[in-house]
Amino acid sequence: MALLGQTEVGQLQALEELVQELHHLFSGEKKVNAAQVQTAMESYESNPGDWARYAQFDQFRYTRNLVDKGNEKFNLMILCWGEGHGSSIHDHTDSHCFMKILQGNLKETLFEWPDKKGVGEMQKKSERVLKENQCAYINDTIGLHRVENPSHTETAVSLHLYSPPFESCYTFDQRTGHKQRVKMTFYSQFGERTPYTTSVSQENN
Ligand SMILES: [Fe+2]
Repeated sequence: MALLGQTEVGQLQALEELVQELHHLFSGEKKVNAAQVQTAMESYESNPGDWARYAQFDQFRYTRNLVDKGNEKFNLMILCWGEGHGSSIHDHTDSHCFMKILQGNLKETLFEWPDKKGVGEMQKKSERVLKENQCAYINDTIGLHRVENPSHTETAVSLHLYSPPFESCYTFDQRTGHKQRVKMTFYSQFGERTPYTTSVSQENN
């Protein structure tokens, strides 16, 4: 692979190498270069041996599992999607959001922001299915999205980076456009299950 700091990133061989590269990309004072981060995320070739300990599933809904706190510049986490699990339509609290598929497929549906009154069916902009090793990018200027595991027989696992980190976002009702602030929690952190008392409700991003 290319040395850290070069614009061109070769194949990243292990999740640990990707984490190291991400720390490097977020280390400067300058604004983050989203294209470089996306390239780095795509350059890591998913290997379940690297991330199995973070991939903790719940029977009823998808889980968020913290992998790295990115020196407070970003949060890196693994989301585990059971068959048919999906998120609400949500925003990203003015942060960058990168989403790489580690296993399976995820369907991403983009929506326009509702108008100020927030009344009426939300406008769908596009949809696509992301495949293993692909990395999507979104922020609030691009719009809102819903993410779903479209398979009813296979699970899916994805790697997400949010910068700057955030702890709450808005979810939107597709039929009315009404929004609701939701606090997000981790199902596990650094491979350890979060104690039950602190993992009340969790919402997506
Ligand atoms: Fe999201």
